[in-house]
Amino acid sequence: MQTERLLPDQMGMARAAILLAGGHVVAIPTETVYGLAGDARNGQAVARIYEAKGRPSFNPLIVHVPDLEAARAIADVTAEAETLAKAFWPGALTLVLPLRADAGIASLVTAGLSTVAIRVPGHPVAQALLRLTGPLAAPSANASGRISPTSADHVLDPDGGLDGRIAAVLDAGPCPVGLESTIIGWPQGRATLLRPGGIPTEAIARCLGHPLADHQADPAAPNAPGQLTSHYAPKAALRLNVSDPGPGETHIAFAAPGPFTLSETGDLAQAAARLFDTLRRADREGRPISVAPIPDHGLGAAINDRLRRAAAPRG
Ligand code: TXA
Ligand code: MG
Repeated sequence: MQTERLLPDQMGMARAAILLAGGHVVAIPTETVYGLAGDARNGQAVARIYEAKGRPSFNPLIVHVPDLEAARAIADVTAEAETLAKAFWPGALTLVLPLRADAGIASLVTAGLSTVAIRVPGHPVAQALLRLTGPLAAPSANASGRISPTSADHVLDPDGGLDGRIAAVLDAGPCPVGLESTIIGWPQGRATLLRPGGIPTEAIARCLGHPLADHQADPAAPNAPGQLTSHYAPKAALRLNVSDPGPGETHIAFAAPGPFTLSETGDLAQAAARLFDTLRRADREGRPISVAPIPDHGLGAAINDRLRRAAAPRG
């Protein structure tokens, strides 16, 4: 299959919408990362997403909709969820909510669970496309276990990307946030952080007026599917919290200059936006990688989560 590279104009979006309506999969820009989108109501389209990614099929996908009203057609938006939706949508927040019986979403999207993960992306191209297509299931547009893509070039990377495996990519340049969405669910009735991401946990807790339950810290909580330990993995070995890089290492700096710095000035939003591209570029040097310490608050917590997974033993 020849993968089409589409411009994010009216014609490109119309072409993407036609491909999606035909059950094909298209990589689309969002403010967090590029998503590999398929019609969430079409089981065959969703199967093509899993196939293109080589993703284990027990791992459910996020459904993207243009607004809160569209979310209500798919899930029960509970009181706390509505508070968060009104504060952070459109944006880098995914809510795991009870799936409505009449949602019309292919069961492969939720991997048969009674809950569904929903997000309203804020990227103008994603917004415009969703108004042409209806709900789109989309995981990050990378091969399973590899580094998430924050540009169309990452999606099509000849080394392990999806070129030739998907119908098209809608190229709108780099993603401004650069980290996947923050995922919040209510597995035991309490608002719980399922994945740190592009909206800082502190901002969500402030909005709710109470701290979030920590999924990892609760041994009674069921394991969220897809929280595989090794993820976002570069090929090279990765050492974290390194202030003293070895001579044979490619060093990813923070709050310091350098060819692989995440932010010269120590700006966490800039570091998040550069993280995945920097990991890819550093990996191409073919040497072990060391990463400077990153403050563990705000977006830094999500950056450190991704780095820990990237450094985890490979499965
Ligand atoms: O920013 C993002 O979230 C990007 C863009 C494309 O929207 N998407 C993304 O999707 O990161 P993905 O598939 O790479 O990660 C989705 C996560 C997975 O860890 C999955 O297990 C979890 O969401 N998830 C999906 N449905 C769930 C559910 N019903 N219950 C618990 N976790 C769920
Ligand atoms: Mg992913």
